Amino acid sequence: MTTGAGGAPAASTPPATSTPPPALEITGLSRRFGGLFAVRDVSLSVPPGARFGVIGPNGAGKTTLFNLLSGELRPASGTVRLHGRDVTRLSPPRRAALGLGRTFQITRLFADLTVRENLTLAVHGLSRSRLQMLRPWRSYRKEQRRAEELADSFGLGGRLRHKPRELSHGELRELEVLLALAAEPTVLLLDEPAAGLSPAERVGIQNLITRLPESLTVVVIEHDMNVLREVADWLAVLHVGQLVTQGGTADVQRHPAVRELYLGSGSAAGEAGAGTLPTPPTPPTTAGGQ
Ligand SMILES: Nc1ncnc2c1ncn2[C@@H]1O[C@H](COP(=O)(O)OP(=O)(O)OP(=O)(O)O)[C@@H](O)[C@H]1O
Ligand SMILES: [Mg+2]
Repeated sequence: MTTGAGGAPAASTPPATSTPPPALEITGLSRRFGGLFAVRDVSLSVPPGARFGVIGPNGAGKTTLFNLLSGELRPASGTVRLHGRDVTRLSPPRRAALGLGRTFQITRLFADLTVRENLTLAVHGLSRSRLQMLRPWRSYRKEQRRAEELADSFGLGGRLRHKPRELSHGELRELEVLLALAAEPTVLLLDEPAAGLSPAERVGIQNLITRLPESLTVVVIEHDMNVLREVADWLAVLHVGQLVTQGGTADVQRHPAVRELYLGSGSAAGEAGAGTLPTPPTPPTTAGGQ
């Protein structure tokens, strides 16, 4: 952030304002694989505390966009700002330390550790001291308490002694969100948290997302409009790497380009924003690079 604290502000410095900068702001972001753009010239601004959905057909570039935001990938061009700070060249851990948390489309958990242990390690990741292999587990009391609080407040308190393989698919996805929350992010990126879940499990993860702290900025990639309607009030639509449109969730559902993209031209389905966008078709082009 550039508030010019202490120093003489340059003549061109805009007047100080109490409006906080966007939690996330991306400008002209592009990334290619081989000859094809996975993300092309995408600009978005996500205000603090927003519930922001990202939708688009398979291969639209949604996960690539998240990878560019979290630093797993570097853009060919464009910038990423987190709370006003340019983080485009920072590593994923540096961005995480500045408040960026995420979950992945593919589960990443320690399979041989219990829910309590997985969460305790995630909480410990916050502290400056490195994990010491010889330190007794019971000495992580403070971290364990925080892990238990987290599990209790989001409905996984009864599963603390269990290992990931003993959890339902829905509970696993919930645990992944809690692991990301353990790092106390200010911006949380969720990549298809409801993918592959039964309707009942979808309601579970949806409830968890709606109970996240209001101050947390949440960006969620999701195909299921029933989930998105509950958890997002703003949607951005990607297709073959480009931003098709963005706006309020109901408006985007009604948007002609979005309906064409998901339903095909002339379809009467999804009327008046009440319908559920079906699983989108695969895009017409495929990647040629590696
Ligand atoms: N590491 C990579 N190497 C080569 N091509 C890639 C790589 N990652 C993504 N791509 C390609 O970039 C495009 C966008 O992929 P991405 O995974 O971002 O799409 P997505 O919108 O998340 O799709 P889905 O809904 O299936 O998860 C696709 O054509 C994909 O094949
Ligand atoms: Mg994806």
